[in-house]
Amino acid sequence: MKKHLVILTGAGVSAESGFATFRDTGGLWEQYDVNDVASIEGWYRNRKLVLEFYNQRRAQLKDAKPNAAHVAMAQLEKDYRVDVITQNVDNLHERAGSTRVLHLHGELTKVRPENGIYDRTESEAEVIDVGYRPVILGDLAPNGSQLRPHIVFFGEAVPNIGKAIDLVEQADILLIVGSSLQVYPAAGLYRYARNDCPIYVIDPKPVPISDPRVTFIQDVATKGMARFVELVEVND
Ligand code: APR
Repeated sequence: MKKHLVILTGAGVSAESGFATFRDTGGLWEQYDVNDVASIEGWYRNRKLVLEFYNQRRAQLKDAKPNAAHVAMAQLEKDYRVDVITQNVDNLHERAGSTRVLHLHGELTKVRPENGIYDRTESEAEVIDVGYRPVILGDLAPNGSQLRPHIVFFGEAVPNIGKAIDLVEQADILLIVGSSLQVYPAAGLYRYARNDCPIYVIDPKPVPISDPRVTFIQDVATKGMARFVELVEVND
């Protein structure tokens, strides 16, 4: 039976595809106030600004390409049962060929009604795939309410966290790539890994995990993934 490799990714995995991370120097949260564009209070304060912010991100995604790190993760499906849990709202894992991707913080290419069934039921029945098209104030869902990004804003619950915990609990190997691990609950997911589960962390900067199970690969995602593949081949 194939070993179960669970991969948790953050903004760093898409950095080499041209996407600014959030908290690095020059990152998105230096250019924008997170409370304005990515919080639920910000949404109700100024929907137009929030829609524009995500329209820009969506347009940028159209022209972006998966990089060698996304591709390496997809190729590992040949030898492992791979589940990717991503904090990213881009679709670069899917476009690289990963078949099991769980989005913790939503998806850029999707929208849903502001007042709909998702928040109460987590049902995706009213979620609409808009691709890379912009959404503006006045664009309404079939139920008559304003369309909003299918994004988990700060201040909102993370509906997929239960599924993510289940996956991490089942992991034979856990790999964390390109996340500063500053944002909970995603940052605490590694604690659910079994005691005998090796954990690999790829990041050019030190990441705040002190855990005896961790092997740290201090490098960018593309080079770090090549190193990870070598390491697991030797150990397996
Ligand atoms: N390869 C790998 N990692 C990189 C690279 C790279 N080329 N470049 C930067 N990094 C690392 C940084 O060192 C940092 O540790 O990626 C990490 C990015 O951290 P953040 O910007 O905090 O992004 P992330 O951890 O994904 O943020 C979590 O915060 O604002 C929210 O909702 C947003 O999902 C996001 C969440």
